[in-house]
Amino acid sequence: MAQQKTILRALAGETLPTPPIWMMRQAGRYLPEYKATRAQAGDFLSLCYNPELAAEVTLQPIRRYGFDAAILFADILLLPQALGADLWFVTGEGPRLSTITTADELAKLKPTEAIHDTLNPIYETVKILSKELPDETTLIGFAGSPWTVATYMIAGQGTPDQGPAHALKAENRAVFEGLLERITEGTIEYLSMQIDAGAECVKLFDSWAGSLQGDDFINYSIKPMQQITAALKAKHPGVPVIAFPRGAGTSYAGVHAATGADCVAVDDGVDAAWVAAHVQKDGCVQGNLKSSHMVTGGDALVSETRRICDALSSGPHIFNLGHGITPDADPENVQLMIDTVRGS
Ligand code: CP3
Repeated sequence: MAQQKTILRALAGETLPTPPIWMMRQAGRYLPEYKATRAQAGDFLSLCYNPELAAEVTLQPIRRYGFDAAILFADILLLPQALGADLWFVTGEGPRLSTITTADELAKLKPTEAIHDTLNPIYETVKILSKELPDETTLIGFAGSPWTVATYMIAGQGTPDQGPAHALKAENRAVFEGLLERITEGTIEYLSMQIDAGAECVKLFDSWAGSLQGDDFINYSIKPMQQITAALKAKHPGVPVIAFPRGAGTSYAGVHAATGADCVAVDDGVDAAWVAAHVQKDGCVQGNLKSSHMVTGGDALVSETRRICDALSSGPHIFNLGHGITPDADPENVQLMIDTVRGS
């Protein structure tokens, strides 16, 4: 049967008259209904591990806005937790983890097959969503890309420059590469189970790819994404993969071919016309609108949205932000963006 879902058509390389649309962090603190469900769950991690409530917050932006895709509600740091790291969130500050910087600590991580003991509720969320989502809505599963996940596991928290991960790479490459391998293997298992449960597409978030340069970018951002993509395609042919090496700049050119991904998500640091000429020529692209427009709205939001749609109109395109929507965004600006994309 011909594919009807617009997101899957764009991912398959079709140029659509109106780009399908979804938004990174579309379930999140800018929505009052999200805050209410999060309060009901108690805290962020309890929300992630509660299949009914995690499915509920995934559905909220679909009900409110009718996005063309829903992204599973979870977090990239659940995999480190499933591998045995301690994980907690400090309100107003972000995630904290126990660190892995020595061969001993690396050896103590749990075996890959044990991750499902922790991650089973996430697969349950996917199953609920694949029953409850409207027929036209694509369900996107996701994981962090190994480099980005490693930066948190090595530093024990978010860092502005990923300094601790760069230091471990310089000082103990065996432990650094061993950790990347463990995350890569775990990610293949984790995403494969998300697909078995009903995810129709998966996205790899390499949020800190921009701090890798030259060979490091190839070896530690591109290669792990390529390994994961190849393993998933061998097991689940036809399930599209979106790669997001955020901050890659001119290195976005060639990412489709180097990773094998069906779609490359771009941040707001590259120009849409450049993306059309150098990235979209190889396949579907997604992203680019500055998240700050969701805070400021107005004419600038409308004209930038139109500019991106126009620049990317002659190839496969999924409309999205360049990074996640922020808690201070105005829900009405999201509607304005959608109306502008859909031309109403
Ligand atoms: O996009 C979605 O709506 C799906 C859910 C999703 C979340 N995190 C929920 C979340 C996704 C895809 C992620 C990915 C994620 N998580 C990334 C990669 C994408 C990116 O933003 O660069 C990263 C680096 C993380 C790790 C993480 N999770 C951090 C650094 C933080 C704290 C920062 C913050 O915004 O508070 C989180 C928490 C988090 N993950 C929230 C949400 C909705 C906010 C938690 C809350 O409700 O308090």
